[in-house]
Amino acid sequence: MQPSRLPQPARPSGGGVGGSTWRHYNSDMLKLFPVLAGVLAGCLLSVSAAAQYGAGWTIPAEAKTEKSPLKADAGVLKKGKSIFDAQCAKCHGATGVGNGPDSSPDSPAADLTDPFRADLNPDGVMYYRVLNGKPPVMPAFKGQLSQDEIWTVVEYAKSLRKPQ
Ligand code: HEC
Repeated sequence: MQPSRLPQPARPSGGGVGGSTWRHYNSDMLKLFPVLAGVLAGCLLSVSAAAQYGAGWTIPAEAKTEKSPLKADAGVLKKGKSIFDAQCAKCHGATGVGNGPDSSPDSPAADLTDPFRADLNPDGVMYYRVLNGKPPVMPAFKGQLSQDEIWTVVEYAKSLRKPQ
């Protein structure tokens, strides 16, 4: 809508809040409103995602309810272990406790065996942690591992958790 192009009723000159300056100000604000609302909603969303999963991770909201398509049978766990040994153990340690040689003392690799992590890491959340990483402390594995390989290593990492 372009109200300024519509024929304007004649107004007495001399200002007042009904003057044309106010009208323009008003319609500019209306045009900006959706933009401002979008920015605000975006901020709120990213703040809540950060609060839920920790800052620096890229995890879509729907990840929380996404289930792993794999069953942790012997074959999946065996393949998962070989991916873990090759890609993850250097930081997370061979047993997942976070004591790998590349784990930096400033930002140590997480202890994946800690049972409290189960609640923080539903399947889909684990998937996106591995897919997108947490720059710069944990690499993103997208492009390096296939979707199937990520789910496989996620199943293996879950198997390292101590019982709750
Ligand atoms: C270069 C070192 C490095 C490598 C390689 C690495 N990670 Fe990590 N990972 C980290 C660090 C550091 C964190 C902790 C980040 C934080 O929370 O600040 C982490 C955190 C995680 C978490 C989140 C744990 C939680 O509950 O917060 C998961 C899951 C994880 N890594 C899985 C993996 C898997 C699976 C692989 C292999 C495919 C892998 N990582 C490879 C460094 C690494």
